[in-house]
Amino acid sequence: MKQKGKLSTAPYKGVRDFYPEDMAVQRYLFSIWRQTAERFGFEAYDASILEPSELYKSKGTVNEEIVSEQTYTFTDRGGREVTLRPEMTPTVARMIAGRRRELRFPVRWYSIPNLFRYERMQRGRLREHWQLNCDIFGVDDTSADVEIILLANEIFKNFGAENGVHYQIHISSRKLLEALYDTLQLPEDIRVAVTRLADRKHKMDADTFSQKLHEIAGNATENLSQFLNATTLKALPQPVINSDAYAELQTIIDTLEELRCAVTFDPSIIRGFDYYTGIVFEVFDLHPQNNRAMMGGGRYDNLTALFGGDPIAGVGFGFGDVTLRDFLESHNLLTAYDTAPTLAILPTATYLNLEAQKLAHAFRSADIAATVDLSGKKIRKKIAHASERLCTFALVFGEDEQREKTYTLKNLNEGSSISGTLEELIMYINNS
Ligand code: HAM
Repeated sequence: MKQKGKLSTAPYKGVRDFYPEDMAVQRYLFSIWRQTAERFGFEAYDASILEPSELYKSKGTVNEEIVSEQTYTFTDRGGREVTLRPEMTPTVARMIAGRRRELRFPVRWYSIPNLFRYERMQRGRLREHWQLNCDIFGVDDTSADVEIILLANEIFKNFGAENGVHYQIHISSRKLLEALYDTLQLPEDIRVAVTRLADRKHKMDADTFSQKLHEIAGNATENLSQFLNATTLKALPQPVINSDAYAELQTIIDTLEELRCAVTFDPSIIRGFDYYTGIVFEVFDLHPQNNRAMMGGGRYDNLTALFGGDPIAGVGFGFGDVTLRDFLESHNLLTAYDTAPTLAILPTATYLNLEAQKLAHAFRSADIAATVDLSGKKIRKKIAHASERLCTFALVFGEDEQREKTYTLKNLNEGSSISGTLEELIMYINNS
């Protein structure tokens, strides 16, 4: 029970504290993200978590649900309306547009921002999460779409996951849906309403969905349903099969297949953001406990036009840390991420702590990560603790060692020991 007058030690609702064991996992996730993105030639960028609120209200960036229900927005002391960024895509589009003359396109950028959404909390959904964003700007053909999905797949592979066993990539195309709207000659407001409803299809039962669709689209319902329920490209309505968008999607799927990256056509992938103009995709966890998308993205060719000038084509994805951690844990794919110092120096009594600090400093000067156990615990406890911390070596530091200046190094993994001077032990550790 909370005591009167005392502050709670719990973090703000929906956000996480990262105690060292959680931080170790987070660093592991980020390290694979960074390594893989850089292996594809992506460059890192970053920005502030604060953005002017108008960035998320402009026509073209809108995700109705996020803007009207989920943003953290406040007025600053100068009367400006400010929002904690709920996603990174408008920010990166702003940055790209701001340097459009200096940048050499195509540009491949990545970032790992923390994002804020006032969500109803549930498994896989928090109010602050980190999200790897990888985006390519300045390429308007399918080669960039293929690369971005290949990168997504490679990240999963680097976490030890297998496509089709642990996860599945689902793809569709907004252009394909637009091609259908064109053949049905649907007016713009109906298109927007149908797209928004289709995005929520999985949140209602089939009858409710059909009824709502009929209310919006009238006699276009049959064709729209055929599209949204298709399980293969070939099952789509005929006019769509003859469209350029169809050929484009087929090329992307075939090329990825050829590169051993399986993707499944799924017309129910809509994605809530209004800015998508081409392919849209999501990666699903196949573990029954985790029924959420871990990553989502697509092509957005008009977003930078918000900032003036000709639009610059973009394609990319966001990959969340919360769902990724659930995924790795559920599939037993989470490996320990070791950040322990190499050497633990263990003084036999606290009056030796200062001298032990000097010895640790000498090891660190030779580029060996070293820590001193400053507790007053018994030496046996200190050794056990160094071992639990996953240090490789322990050095017991007593009066004899201080006087003789020779030390015994115990290898905590193998149980073996070796004695020598500081210089000898530095050489030994560096060679082992
Ligand atoms: P998104 O689908 O909103 O896309 O988010 C991408 C991923 O971030 C989701 O699949 C999920 O794993 C994670 N995520 C989103 N919201 C939360 C939350 N409240 N708690 C935990 N995880 C969450 C975008 O944000 C697009 N801007 C991605 C993009 C980049 N498209 C093109 N480039």
